[in-house]
Amino acid sequence: MRIVSVVGARPNFVKLAPVARALATQRGVEHIVVHTGQHYDPLLSESFFTDLEIPQPKHNLDVGSGTHAQQTARIMERFEPLCGELQPDWVLVYGDVNSTVAAGLVAAKLGVRLAHVEAGLRSYDRSMPEEYNRVVTDHLADLLFAPSRDAVANLAREGIPAERVAFVGNVMIDALVHARAQARRLRTAERLGLPEGKFALVTLHRPSNVDDPQVFGGLCDALAEISRERPTLFPAHPRTQARLTRTGFVSRLGKVRLCDPLPYLAMLDLTESAGLVITDSGGIQEETTFLGVPCLTVRPNTERPITIDQGTNRLVAPTRDAILAAARNGQARGPARQLERWDGRAAERIAAALVEGRRLD
Ligand code: UD1
Repeated sequence: MRIVSVVGARPNFVKLAPVARALATQRGVEHIVVHTGQHYDPLLSESFFTDLEIPQPKHNLDVGSGTHAQQTARIMERFEPLCGELQPDWVLVYGDVNSTVAAGLVAAKLGVRLAHVEAGLRSYDRSMPEEYNRVVTDHLADLLFAPSRDAVANLAREGIPAERVAFVGNVMIDALVHARAQARRLRTAERLGLPEGKFALVTLHRPSNVDDPQVFGGLCDALAEISRERPTLFPAHPRTQARLTRTGFVSRLGKVRLCDPLPYLAMLDLTESAGLVITDSGGIQEETTFLGVPCLTVRPNTERPITIDQGTNRLVAPTRDAILAAARNGQARGPARQLERWDGRAAERIAAALVEGRRLD
C-alpha cells in the first residue's frame, strides 16, 4: 500500500512525525512525504524535520509565500501531476493550513482516497482563513481522524457519515509524549537564564493580531508591561518579525526578549518550564493543556474548546488591558491533564485504520 503525506507548514510537521513513525512499523506500506514548500525558512521547516526525526521529504513543491489564492493554486498545480504519477492508495493531509486544503482538493478530484488528520475542529469564525480549510477538507475526505469528542460531534452536525469518522486522539500530543524526556534534558530555560516556573513565553503570528498596527501596538504594550513583572521570551514568527520592524514596535517591547522561532524540542522544553504562556497558536493551546501550564490565547474563540473546558486555557481579547488583567490574575501551574485518547497512541490508531481498515480503541 502506498500512502502519500502532504505537509507544508510548521504545525503539519509536528503532526506528521508520529504518523510517519507508526506507518514505518506497518508491513507492506510505502510512505512518501511531499513538502509543499509553504514554509521554507529553515527555522520553520528543516529544524522540525531534524528535531522530530522525520525522514527527509521525497518531493518538495517549492511553492513559497503568496496570497491565499496564489499559494493554494500553486500547490494544486504542482501536486496534481505528482499525485497522478505516484498513484497512492491514500493521500494524508494534516490540520488546517493552505497546503491541507490544496492537496485535499487535488486528491479528491483525481479520485484518490483522502484522509484528514485533525478533522472536525471548528472555531465557527469565518474571518479566520483556517476555518475554510477545515470545513472544505473535512467535506472532501473519505476518512476523518478526529482528536476529540467535540470534533466528532461537529462532523455529525454537518452530516458527515459516522462510518467515515474515527475518534483517534491527538497526534500533536503523540509527538509531545514521544519527545518530552529528550526535550527536558536540554534545560533550555536554565541555559537562557529564565527562572523555572516563573517566566512568560509568548508566540503571536495570526493576521488578526499582527497585521493591524492598532491591535498589534496594544499587544506590544501589554507584553512590555508584563516583561517588567516577569522575564518574558518572545520567539517571533517571520511575519511577526517583519511587522515589528515595519511598524517600529520593536522599540515598544520593553524588556521582552525577542528571538527567532525555536526548534521543536527547545520550544517544548520551555513550554513545560513556563509560568505563563501567551499565544495565538492552535497547537500550543493543546500542549499547555496537556502539561498543566496556564495559557492565555489571544483570540475571540477557539476551535479547541476542550482546552478551556478541561484544560488550562483562557481566551483573552487582543487589547492591552485585557491581556494585562488576565496575566496578573494568573492561575498556578497545575498537574498534567488526562484527556480522552490524548495518550500518545493516536498515530497508531490512524495507521491501523488506514492499513487494516481496523478501529483501535
Ligand atoms: C500558516 C498557517 C497557520 C499556522 C502557521 C504556523 C495557513 C492559512 N496558515 O500561517 O494556520 O498557524 O502557518 O506557523 O496556511 N514566511 C516566511 N518564511 C516562511 C514562511 C512564511 O518568512 O518560511 C512569511 C512570509 O512573509 C509569508 C508569511 O510569513 O507571506 C505568511 O506565511 P503563510 O505560510 O502564508 O502563513 P503563516 O502565517 O505562516
